[in-house]
Amino acid sequence: MTVSPVTAATRPFELNADSLSPNRNLTPLTSALDDREQLQVGGCDLGELARRYGTPLYVLDEVTLRASCRAYREALAAHYPGPSLALYASKANSSLMLSALVASEGLGLDAVSAGELLTALQGGMPPERIVLHGNNKSDEELSLAVAHGVTVVVDNDHDLERLTELAPAAGRVVPLMLRFTPGIECHTHEYIRTGHLDSKFGFDPDQLDPVLRRLASCPWARLTGLHAHIGSQIFELQPHRDLAGVMADALALARSLGHPVTDLNVGGGLGIRYVSSDDPPTIQEWVKGVAESVVRACRERDLELPRLLCEPGRSLVATAGLTVYTIGSRKQIPGLRTYLSVDGGMSDNPRPITYQSSYTAVLAERPTATPTETVTVAGKHCESGDVLLKDLALPASSSGDLLVVFATGAYNASMASNYNRIPRPAAVLVHGGQAELVQRRERPDELLLHDVLPERFRPIA
Ligand code: LLP
Repeated sequence: MTVSPVTAATRPFELNADSLSPNRNLTPLTSALDDREQLQVGGCDLGELARRYGTPLYVLDEVTLRASCRAYREALAAHYPGPSLALYASKANSSLMLSALVASEGLGLDAVSAGELLTALQGGMPPERIVLHGNNKSDEELSLAVAHGVTVVVDNDHDLERLTELAPAAGRVVPLMLRFTPGIECHTHEYIRTGHLDSKFGFDPDQLDPVLRRLASCPWARLTGLHAHIGSQIFELQPHRDLAGVMADALALARSLGHPVTDLNVGGGLGIRYVSSDDPPTIQEWVKGVAESVVRACRERDLELPRLLCEPGRSLVATAGLTVYTIGSRKQIPGLRTYLSVDGGMSDNPRPITYQSSYTAVLAERPTATPTETVTVAGKHCESGDVLLKDLALPASSSGDLLVVFATGAYNASMASNYNRIPRPAAVLVHGGQAELVQRRERPDELLLHDVLPERFRPIA
C-alpha cells in the first residue's frame, strides 16, 4: 500500500543535520516541515500515515538507512587498507525488509537466533555474509547455520561440543569465529556492557590458548575469525582502540597455532543521539579510530592485515526510525506533574523502563510550536513505571493529537512485547513520498492463536 506524494513545499526540520553520519542527528535525514508547519518524513505526512496505518506506528526512513550503511562502507574503504565488511547487528531491528536493504547495500549481517537467521536468509542476505552469535545456541540454531554455510561464532565449550556432533553428521566443514571477552571496560549502562571479564559472553582470555589448540584438532572446523564486542551506546573511542591490541595478540596466537584466521571482528557499539545533549562520534570517526588502531596493532606485531569486520546495530538504524502515537487521556496533579497518556508504551518501547533511556518528542502537527507546559508521557500499560518521556516541554495538546518520538529505529520493534495483551504496532518504510508496509499490525485475536484451553475447561455448549 502506498501513500500519495505530498506536494506542499518543505524545508528541513533539523537544522545542521549531519547527512554523512545519521547517528549524530535526532531525526531522520528527510525530516521536513511542510508549508503548514507539519512534520513529514521521507516525503510522507506523518498525520496522513497515522490515519492510514493507525497508531502506534513505527516509521523507517529509507534515505537515512541507506546513508548509514554507506557511511560504514565508505569509511571502512577510506580508512582501512585491507578488505573490510560491516555486518548489521540485526538484533537492533530484524525484518525481511531490513535484511534485504542492508544486503543491497553490500553489508553482511549478525544473527543471534534461528528467527533472526531465517529473517536474514529469506530477506536475501547471502549466507556467506552472515554470522551466528549466541551464548546458548540450540541444536536447531546451529544446524540451520551449518546447513546454510553461515559462519558460527563459537562462544563457549557447549558450542564446540554440539558442533563436534552436528557438523560431521551434516558432512560439513564449518567456518567459525571465536568470541572472547577482551577485559575492556567502557562507560555505558551495566546491562549493555559485554567486554568486561564478568560477562556471560565469550571465552575468558585465559582459555584462548587451550581452545585454539583444541580447535586445531577438529577436522570439521575452519577457524576464520576472532570476535569481541565491548558494549553498546558507547561515546568514547578509546575502548575500541584498546581492543585492537588485545585482538591482535589473539590473532598472533591463533595464526601461530596454524589457524587460517583472516577476519578480525571488533563488534559494534557506536552510540547515537537520543537527546540533544548526547554527543556521539561520527561513524567516520569511529571507523577511522578502529581501523587505524587495528593497522597499528598488526604492524607492531608484524601480522598480515586481517579483513576488518564490525557489527553496528543501533548506529545503523536508530535515527532512521520514529514512532507516532496518539495522545489520549490527561491527568493533572496540581503542583506535581501532568501525565499525557499515549496508545502504546513499554510494549513497543521497553528501553525507558529497562535502561532509563531518554528520548526526544514533538507533536506531529505542531512540531515547531512554542512549548507551554511540561508533561510526562505515559504508556497505557498497567505499570506505574510505564513512562516513555519525563519532563517533556510541549505546546498545548489535546486528546487525538499525534506525538512523534524520535530515534526509535533500534531496539524498539525488536524488543517489543505483548504485555497486557497489546498487539505490536505496524511498521512502514517511507521514501520519496511513498509509504510501504513492512510489518503488519498485530490484531488482538492473533494474540490468542497460541493459547490452548484444555478440554475440561471448555464451556458446555
Ligand atoms: N555485536 C554483538 C555481539 C552484540 O552483542 C551487539 C549488541 C552488537 C554487535 C550491536 O551493538 P550496537 O552497535 O547496536 O551497539 N537492547 C539494548 C542494546 C543491547 C545490545 C546488545 N548487543 C538497548 O536497547 O540499548
